[in-house]
Amino acid sequence: MSQSIKTIIKERRSIKKFNGRPVEQSDVTAVLADAAWAPNHGNREPWRFIVAAESGLDAIRTTMKECTIPNWEALSPEELDKKIAGFKLPGAFVFVVVPEDARQKERLEDYSATSALVQNAQLLAWEKGIGTCWKTPAWMDAPKFRTALGVKPGERILAMLQFGYYDELPKAKPRTPIEQKITYFRK
Ligand SMILES: Cc1cc2nc3c(=O)[nH]c(=O)nc-3n(C[C@H](O)[C@H](O)[C@H](O)COP(=O)(O)O)c2cc1C
Repeated sequence: MSQSIKTIIKERRSIKKFNGRPVEQSDVTAVLADAAWAPNHGNREPWRFIVAAESGLDAIRTTMKECTIPNWEALSPEELDKKIAGFKLPGAFVFVVVPEDARQKERLEDYSATSALVQNAQLLAWEKGIGTCWKTPAWMDAPKFRTALGVKPGERILAMLQFGYYDELPKAKPRTPIEQKITYFRK
């Protein structure tokens, strides 16, 4: 029986320890196709994706190493191994790219719509037994990395969305009781 949306929302966890098993590109594409039903103002569909899966997976790991680790050639295999630990285990990467509209309202709407898409993708992947983590390392904005990915001026990488399989389910990060976050408006 399929799980309810409530169950999937509440049981999804950000997965930070993947087990190294690759994620098929067709699974990532299917997740993104469904996630794209996110609400978006003016139907601008303000998103595009750079997907690194299957043969792209080794390529992106090399690119990340070359673009984000200074003097990586000078490091010993052990030092390098430590530095690239975060790149090695995810089974696919999706870089979610949003236009940076010069108008603030449109820019914020586009970020919001694309964030809704990212959450959709995390839930859809979870339903398939695939974990995700939305990551925003500072090096995503480094010119060398942006150029390597083909990100153009006027675009921003909103998320590095890691996909992968996992062996251990992380504990839930408890949420504040919602009553503490709600003001019921009355006249
Ligand atoms: C915009 C955004 C950026 C995030 N960036 C990172 C990140 O750079 N590194 C990381 O480990 N987790 C990152 N996360 C994931 C959060 O750490 C995670 O969602 C939070 O700990 C709650 O855990 P849960 O998703 O399992 O409920 C990010 C989440 C969001 C929404």
